[in-house]
Amino acid sequence: MGTDKESKTSFFHRSKNESAFIIRSCTDDDLERVKQVNEQELPEDYPFFFYKSILDNYPESFLVACPKDDFNQILGYIMWRVERTSSKNSLRLLNKGHLVSIAVSGVYRRQGIATALLAKSMPEIQKQNISEYVLEVRVSNYSAINLYESFKFKTEGIKKKYYKDGENAYFMVYKLDEN
Ligand code: ACO
Ligand code: ZN
Repeated sequence: MGTDKESKTSFFHRSKNESAFIIRSCTDDDLERVKQVNEQELPEDYPFFFYKSILDNYPESFLVACPKDDFNQILGYIMWRVERTSSKNSLRLLNKGHLVSIAVSGVYRRQGIATALLAKSMPEIQKQNISEYVLEVRVSNYSAINLYESFKFKTEGIKKKYYKDGENAYFMVYKLDEN
């Protein structure tokens, strides 16, 4: 087939090893733009103070993706928090890294940005002495489910009507001692 591969290659795939985005820590100045990406890409909106409190409490694992040539533009973000809950089979308390939210702006998707955000933030939240990573995802959100499975998350259950519109969530877990 005579398709011109070059013309199909996006700005973000100039070569296999070279990406045109960087991942950096989120700052207070980014929060308004992070909120905008969230509002565009996800039905779940949070008030500004929610982002601010996640950034204040878990700054190391709150990351953003920017174009290499414009560090002020936000292409995507990831934020985590730590929860202390009892384990399933005992009364022992465990720290869990809870993926609060991840999103990448529509036109910049499928370029490895979410993969880079996860790969860089997971070791950071792990420093909080967690035994597992957990998250909820809409059962219809195949892109995100595929992404999490590529990081070895496993579906552990369903949370019925987890979302305001009545959709169920998969509860996905990545246990550190098993991986
Ligand atoms: N269809 C199928 N699989 C997909 C798709 C898709 N459209 N997009 C990503 N994936 C999977 C693939 O396995 C992909 O690997 P591949 O490209 O080698 O096949 C893998 O995820 C990694 O893809 P990335 O390019 O790293 O992901 P991207 O930067 O496009 O971001 C994301 C993925 C975050 C899910 C994006 O689609 C998005 O922002 N969606 C809207 C917001 C959202 O749903 N966020 C998750 C909500 S759940 C939560 O936050 C806890
Ligand atoms: Zn959650």
